Amino acid sequence: MTDFEKIRSDFPILSEHIYGKPLVYLDNGATTQKPEAVIHAIKEYYESYNSNVHRGVHFLSQKATDAEEAARASIQKFINAAQSSEIIFTKGTTDSINLLAYSFCKKHLQPGDEIIITEMEHHSNIVPWQMACEDRGGVIKVIPLKDDGTLDLSVLETLISSKTKLIAFTWVSNTLGTVNPVAELISLAHSHNIPVMIDAAQAIQHMSIDVQASDIDFLVFSGHKIYGPTGIGVLYGKHELLSALPPYQGGGSMIKSVTLKGTTYADLPFRFEAGTPNIAGIIGLGAAINYVAAIGLDNIAAHEAGLLAYAESELQQIPGIRIIGTAPHKAATISFLVGNIHPYDIGELLDKQGVAVRTGHHCCQPIMDRYEIPGTVRVSFALYNRKADVDSFITALKKAISMLA
Ligand code: ALA
Repeated sequence: MTDFEKIRSDFPILSEHIYGKPLVYLDNGATTQKPEAVIHAIKEYYESYNSNVHRGVHFLSQKATDAEEAARASIQKFINAAQSSEIIFTKGTTDSINLLAYSFCKKHLQPGDEIIITEMEHHSNIVPWQMACEDRGGVIKVIPLKDDGTLDLSVLETLISSKTKLIAFTWVSNTLGTVNPVAELISLAHSHNIPVMIDAAQAIQHMSIDVQASDIDFLVFSGHKIYGPTGIGVLYGKHELLSALPPYQGGGSMIKSVTLKGTTYADLPFRFEAGTPNIAGIIGLGAAINYVAAIGLDNIAAHEAGLLAYAESELQQIPGIRIIGTAPHKAATISFLVGNIHPYDIGELLDKQGVAVRTGHHCCQPIMDRYEIPGTVRVSFALYNRKADVDSFITALKKAISMLA
């Protein structure tokens, strides 16, 4: 049995105190803390083999290149991609979606063509498609939300048309915690020969993902939400789909040959990796993926499901509480409001008691519009959280409410 209490000692920051109170970190949807294994991998790279990759014959460059490609192979295995060349390193989820929106729409979107998204998307899975559609004369269609925070899939068939080129949706809502019925969405899209792009930024750290078994066309995620560093992320795409797309950025590394008259582009993955990559970030992400894989996502999911159920039942006993997002299948994220108290006020008073949560619209203004709320307080759990964190949070919340009500 996994000793989740012991796992806490892998994360140096968890012994910090905030305003003299032990840190209770419940803002994992925004970013996760880093285990010693990740910090060490980055430090070791800078201390002992800092060098550029794929550029030199010298020892350090070979070592850095091997470390980068080992990280790519770890990620390939982690999501069961068929080939390591299907793993493209980017700056993060946002960068991955911008890359795909640009390249996919440049190749496939004609004026009047459509991209389907959902009402629960993070701004990063809305704005890049709006920008690409603006450029190409495309149209965005939206799967609406129901009151419980699930998608109203009954309308999807009516949204799909012969002009639909892609359906882009999140696996897990960063705000509502809803876990979307990915298999159903993929099967419906594929029955119309439409590819899907799945935003796994809030899924990759909570549940095991097999891109081949699920027949996923494109998948994006960030390193920093799965215990890795910021500034590094992944775009996965099926080889035949990615290799048909034009490059996003031009520069070094992404070419086969350059003359002053023109350029031919490199094969995957380098075609989409212009310039010196975030080598330390890639190595850190590889260490994070290996760390999570060793614990096992099924173990992590079971642990977090326990925390979610406990926190929701404790919250529901607080008078005036309103949980936004009550889907039957949720990841370890709870958004809530208390009476008419503004979420920022609760967030600030929790902070003063050492409890870190996120408040606001969570980069999901359309969700706030849908429920006609100014924002929410959001708690989001990670593998190192424990029941005692929920107890500290509930105690601090009751105190905040008593001060504000
Ligand atoms: N998208 C991140 C969050 O939900 C930043 O907090």
